[in-house]
Amino acid sequence: MVEDLTKSFGERVAYKDVSFEVGYGEVFGFLGPNGAGKTTTVRTLSTLIKPTSGQATIAGITLGSDSDLLIRERIAIMPESPGLYSRLTVSENLECFAGLYELKDVKNRIDKVLKSVNLADRKNDLCGSLSKGLRQRVALARALLSDPEILFLDEPTSGLDPVATRDVHDLLMALRERGVTIFLTTHRLEEAEKLCHRVAILNTTLKLIGSPAELREQLFSRNLEIKTGSQIIEPERIFTDISGIQSWEQSVSGSYIVNVSDPDVVAPWIVRALVGAGIDVLAIGETRHSLEDVYLELINEDVEAKQR
Ligand SMILES: Nc1ncnc2c1ncn2[C@@H]1O[C@H](COP(=O)(O)OP(=O)(O)O)[C@@H](O)[C@H]1O
Ligand SMILES: [Mg+2]
Repeated sequence: MVEDLTKSFGERVAYKDVSFEVGYGEVFGFLGPNGAGKTTTVRTLSTLIKPTSGQATIAGITLGSDSDLLIRERIAIMPESPGLYSRLTVSENLECFAGLYELKDVKNRIDKVLKSVNLADRKNDLCGSLSKGLRQRVALARALLSDPEILFLDEPTSGLDPVATRDVHDLLMALRERGVTIFLTTHRLEEAEKLCHRVAILNTTLKLIGSPAELREQLFSRNLEIKTGSQIIEPERIFTDISGIQSWEQSVSGSYIVNVSDPDVVAPWIVRALVGAGIDVLAIGETRHSLEDVYLELINEDVEAKQR
């Protein structure tokens, strides 16, 4: 649970007034463009840096210096860059980190995590000889070593090709099936949609939060596109007179996009008004925003982010 969390570096605000809750066993997506504050949030929630203000409870423990050690025992992070020793083999790398976490029964654990990321047959390969996708899977294995209650994954597929991305997605889906609580950051909309139970859209502040289906529902405003035979002379007068029109704009192609509550009710009124004003209506029909459009719109409207 996170409440009004804010982090600034001097004048620069990394994220501000962020509040949300993540349930046990939930895969929670933190979606936003570069510089949105995702990594800084992960670093805060995983006790690596202190928030400027606000509170958070992680794995039932309140964030704060006394309890940070307890939190760290229950979580694992897979950072943006895997940070493995390239001159050590896969299993040597994992042994090294298992030692750092003071884990017991190291050999069995390593075998188990390597199996769960389908790397059992590569355990004697040097990490430096592995492709980026495989290294990312080693990093995932490392995060799983301590059998964490909460797994923080920071852009787990950034820089991977489509095949390696799909492999990582499959592994994450398997973890999701097993009920591991996952906090995943990504700048890729389709990744958040595919993997997450719920998604929060962040761009310094939280813009929206909900299941992918709910976001679709909320985000899909209903629009009518109207093609006319000539310019509407006073569009303002015509459109504001019709009830049920929330806003309108002219598209680059010259057609009018009108945001309406109920297209079936409003469309006939628009046609009558336009014809009454002596304007030919060539076509009128409903258009739908894609989730992608709305995501771009949401992250673009943030003026602060643009200035960065
Ligand atoms: N250690 C730091 N010192 C100063 N500014 C930082 C630091 N870490 C991050 N920032 C700034 O905070 C903002 C958010 O960064 P970050 O959390 O890395 O974004 P994201 O992971 O979403 O791309 C950026 O403007 C970045 O420059
Ligand atoms: Mg980041």
